[in-house]
Formats: sequence, structure tokens, C-alpha cells
Amino acid sequence: MPTSILILITVANFSIANEKGISKESAAKGSLKLVIQGLLVDTPQLTAVMLTEDFVKIEKVAKNIVDHPKPSMATRMKLMKAMGSDMAKFKANDGVVHGAAVAMVENAQNKDIKAVGANFQTMISGCLACHGEFKAKVSDILK
Ligand code: HEC
Repeated sequence: MPTSILILITVANFSIANEKGISKESAAKGSLKLVIQGLLVDTPQLTAVMLTEDFVKIEKVAKNIVDHPKPSMATRMKLMKAMGSDMAKFKANDGVVHGAAVAMVENAQNKDIKAVGANFQTMISGCLACHGEFKAKVSDILK
């Protein structure tokens, strides 16, 4: 089984525990973790609506990811201070995910499921790349 499919299934399994999600207000005030738990709700939703080719919902969820709330100013300041020059790399990773979500909105509007799938893979790779490089480090900084 290709790795991408495996990841898809793994991510989809989270949906059961996270149906309610986290409101944008609470994430806007709170930490990076809240923002990311929001992503954790959107991502499995995306797998479900992709597999049923529900383009209206794909567009909606992808837009959620595009507009995901930012961590609070305090959290961002703390991160920037501790990360120094690594911050650019961190932001570039975020840019990969963001760019894929923007492209997905457009491809959903064009009802192009193949392109949507490619965007999804880019997005998930972006999630995992950033985690591989920064998750432990940032977790340590913010704790
Ligand atoms: C720019 C870097 C970056 C990108 C891109 C990124 N993450 Fe994360 N993610 C983090 C960091 C840093 C943490 C740890 C945060 C903490 O411990 O406070 C994290 C933690 C998480 C967690 C664990 C949350 C918890 O409660 O422990 C999940 C789930 C998650 N991310 C999902 C995603 C998904 C889904 C995507 C893509 C749609 C994504 N992330 C993209 C940096 C990123």
C-alpha cells in the first residue's frame, strides 16, 4: 500500500473522536496547539468529502484551512524570539500547507478531483515535514 494512502486512512480515523471541533474564538485567543487541533478536525473531514467527491464541502473545508486562526500574538512573539533564524523555515513549512489549501479551493471549484487529491498529498506532506523538524522543539519552547 502506498504511504500516502496509509496516511490518509490514519488521519481519517481521528475523525470519530473530534467531531465537535474547536471554535475559532478559542483558538484565536489560545496557543498553537489549539490552532493545530482545529487542523486535526479539518483534515479528516477533508478525506471524507474527497472520497465522496463532494466538491462544495471540499471547498468549504479547504477554505477553513486557508483561514485557520493564528496563534495569539503572545505565542507568536515567544516563538519568534526562541526560534531566531529557524522562524523563516517554520513559516515556509506553514506556507506549503497554506498554498496547497488555496490551490485546493480553486480545484474544488473546477471539480477536479485528481488535482484536489494532489493538493491533499502536498498538504499532508507539509504537515508531517514541519512536525518532523519542529514539533518537539516548538513544543519545548511553548511549554
Ligand atoms: C509550520 C509547522 C507546522 C505545520 C505546517 C503543521 N503543524 Fe501540526 N504541529 C506543529 C507544532 C510546532 C506542533 C506542536 C505544538 C505544541 O506542542 O504546542 C504541532 C502539533 C500538531 C498536532 C498535535 C496536537 C496535540 O494536541 O498534541 C496535530 C494533530 C497537528 N499538529 C496536526 C497538523 C495538521 C493536520 C497539519 C496540516 C494540515 C499540521 N499540523 C501542520 C507544527 C506544524
